[in-house]
Amino acid sequence: MMDKIIPDTGRLLYGGDYNPDQWLDMPEILEADIRMMKKAHINIVSLGIFAWAKLEPEDGVYDLDWLGEIIDRLYENGIFTNLATPSGARPHWLTDRYPEVLRMDASRTRARFGGRHNHCFTSPVYRRKVREINQALAKRFDSHPGVVMWHISNEYSTECHCPLCQDAFRAWLKERYGTIEEVNRRWNNAFWSHLYQSFDQIESPGPLGEDAVHGLNLDWKRFVSEQNVDFCREEIRALRDAGAVKPATTNMMYYFPWINYHELAKELDVASWDNYPCWHSEPESRTAVGPAMMHDIMRSLKKRPFLMLESCPSATNWQSVSKLKRPGMLEAEGLQAIAHGSDSVMYFQIRKARGSSEKFHGSVIDHYGGEDDRVYQDCCRMGGTLLSLSEIAGADTRSDAAVIYDWENKWAMEDAQGPRNQGLFYLETVQKSYKAFRKLGLNVDVIDMTQTLDEYKIVAAPMLYMFRAGFQEKARTFVQNGGTLILTYWSGVVDENDLCFLGGTPSGLMDVAGLRSTEIDGLYDQDKNTLCPVSEEPGGRKYECRHLCQLVKTTTAKPLYVYGEDFYAGTPAATVNSFGEGSCYYICADAEQAFYDDLYRSICQEAGVKGPVGEDLPEGIEVTTRHTDEAEYIFIQNFNAVPVRFPLQDTGAEWLFGEKGEERKPFSTVVLKKTY
Ligand code: GLA
Ligand code: ZN
Repeated sequence: MMDKIIPDTGRLLYGGDYNPDQWLDMPEILEADIRMMKKAHINIVSLGIFAWAKLEPEDGVYDLDWLGEIIDRLYENGIFTNLATPSGARPHWLTDRYPEVLRMDASRTRARFGGRHNHCFTSPVYRRKVREINQALAKRFDSHPGVVMWHISNEYSTECHCPLCQDAFRAWLKERYGTIEEVNRRWNNAFWSHLYQSFDQIESPGPLGEDAVHGLNLDWKRFVSEQNVDFCREEIRALRDAGAVKPATTNMMYYFPWINYHELAKELDVASWDNYPCWHSEPESRTAVGPAMMHDIMRSLKKRPFLMLESCPSATNWQSVSKLKRPGMLEAEGLQAIAHGSDSVMYFQIRKARGSSEKFHGSVIDHYGGEDDRVYQDCCRMGGTLLSLSEIAGADTRSDAAVIYDWENKWAMEDAQGPRNQGLFYLETVQKSYKAFRKLGLNVDVIDMTQTLDEYKIVAAPMLYMFRAGFQEKARTFVQNGGTLILTYWSGVVDENDLCFLGGTPSGLMDVAGLRSTEIDGLYDQDKNTLCPVSEEPGGRKYECRHLCQLVKTTTAKPLYVYGEDFYAGTPAATVNSFGEGSCYYICADAEQAFYDDLYRSICQEAGVKGPVGEDLPEGIEVTTRHTDEAEYIFIQNFNAVPVRFPLQDTGAEWLFGEKGEERKPFSTVVLKKTY
C-alpha cells in the first residue's frame, strides 16, 4: 500500500525548522538560505514555530505579510511550508495583560515571563488567544499551494497546578467517577485517613501536600496528559473551523512523561517526532537501538508512515558534550528513520541562530555561511540520497512481531514504591525483547495495551505491572487463536487505578501462563542469580539475571529454566504453557540480553517468523523493510565504526542504493529492492 503523507510532492521530505523571523532586518539572508536550501535538495521547512511576537505585535493586531512573502519566495523555489501555530512561546504583552496564562508549578509558585512551553493549558484566555491567531493563520495561508501541512505548537509538555487547573482536574474526576465515595474507593483513601468528603478538597499532588496516594498521582498524570491533548485538539479545531484542510502534526519527544502519545496521536493526521541520539558516546550500535525503537513507536501509533521532524545536522548545544557527528553518521541517522517508516529527514535548524541559547546548535547553514562548510556538504549529499530514494515515500511496514510499551503502565509502575525503588528498568527490559527480535532482522511494531494484537504472530509484553481494562481478554484470545505471547515478571499486579488484584497474579491470565506468581525478590545492585536450562540437551547454556526475580508456582506450564542459586534454587525461572492453539512464555527474572536473543530465536523459528536476509545478524547490522504493492525495500545498515563482512550477493534483489561488495563500511547503508 502507498500512503503518501503529502500526495503531490511524490518525494521524501527533506528540510527542517526555519526561523527567518530572527533575520527580517537582513533580507540578503533569506536569499542566501533559499539558494543553499535548493542546492541541498531541501523541499520543506517548518516555519513560524516561535514567531508569535512578530505575527501579533499587539493584542489583536496581526502582521502576517512578512510571513506571506517568505512562504511565496520559498514556494517559487520549490520549497514547501509546514506552517506552525505559535503557541509554544508567547509575546510579552500577552503575559503582562493576562497573567493567568503563566504556569504554576507543583509547589504553587507562578512562573514569570520567559522561556517557552510554559503556559497554562486550561486558561480560557490562552485558549482564546491561540484560537484567534491559529484562525488568522488558517484563513490566510491554508489555501496557499506552498503550505502543505500544519505543525501544531511544539513539543507539548509539562503541567500546570494553577487554580484553573485544579478546578479542571476536579471536574475531570467528577466526570470520570461520579461521586466522591467512588473516588475514595478507587484510590483506597481509607488508608492513612485520607478520605475526601467533597470534590473541592481534592488538590493536585505536590511536595506541600499529598504525594503518596498512587491512585491520585496516576489520575493527575492522566489529567495532565488529557489537558495537553485537549489543547492540541482545540488548536486543530480552530484551524478546521476556519476552513483549513491540510494535514496536521505535532512533534513528539521521546518518552516525555507528561503525555500519553497514543492519545495525542489520535488527534493528528500524521505522527512525528524529534530525534536527538547521543551518537559516539558509546558504541554506535548500542545507541542505534534508541532511535530505532522510537521510530517504531511513531509508526505504530497510527500504523502508517510518520515524519522525523527534527534531528541535528551536527552536534546539539544541550547534550552534555557537543560531539560532532562522525563522517557517515548523518546519512546513517537519516536513512535509519526512512528504513523504519519515516517519510522525512528534517533538522533543527536550517540556519544557525546568532544569539541566545541555540547559537551553537548544529544547523544546515553555519554562521560562516559558505557552501564549502563540511556539515552543509554532508546535508547536500543527504538531500541527493533522499531524492534517489523518492519511490519509497508512502511505503508501509509489515511486522509479524510486536512489543508492548505502555505509558500508563510506566506511570503506575514507577510510582508504586517497590519492589525495587532504585531501578525497575522498564524501558531497558522492553528494549531487550525489541533487540532480540531486531537481531533476527525482523520489523517490530511497538504498541500499547489498547492496540490490537490480531495482526501479529508473536507479541512480547514485558513488565505489564498494570493490566489496563480489556487487556486480559485480548491477550487470552490472541493465544487461544494461535499467537505466541511472552509475559515477564511483575505482570498483571494492579488494575487501572493501581489497586492490587486479589486472587493471584498475573491476574486473569494465570491459566494462559499456566502458573501463579507467588513472590518477587528485589536484588541489590551487586546481587545475581542464574537461569539454568532444565533440558539436558547439549549446548543448553546458563544465563545471568539481576534486579528482580519472580517466584512462581506452575500449574500446567513447563519449566524451561530454573534458578541456580538462593533459597529458590531449582524453582522455575522461565516457562512455557500451551493454551488453545497458541503458547505463552513467562520469563521470571531480569535476564541478560543473550538469554532473550537465544529464547526469541527459537520462538521465532517455531512460529515460522523470519527476516529478509539471514537469521543471526552481526552485532550492529540493522535490517529493516518497507513495502509497496509492487516491491519490498530492504535496508541494511552498519552501525559499527568498523567495517563488517556481510555479503548480500544472492538475494536476487535490485541494488537501489549503497556500495556493493561483501563488506559493509562503517555507518553505511544499502537499500535493496525486491519486486514481487
Ligand atoms: C527541541 C525543540 C527545538 C529546538 C531543539 C534543539 O527539539 O523542538 O525548537 O530547541 O530542541 O535541539
Ligand atoms: Zn493552569
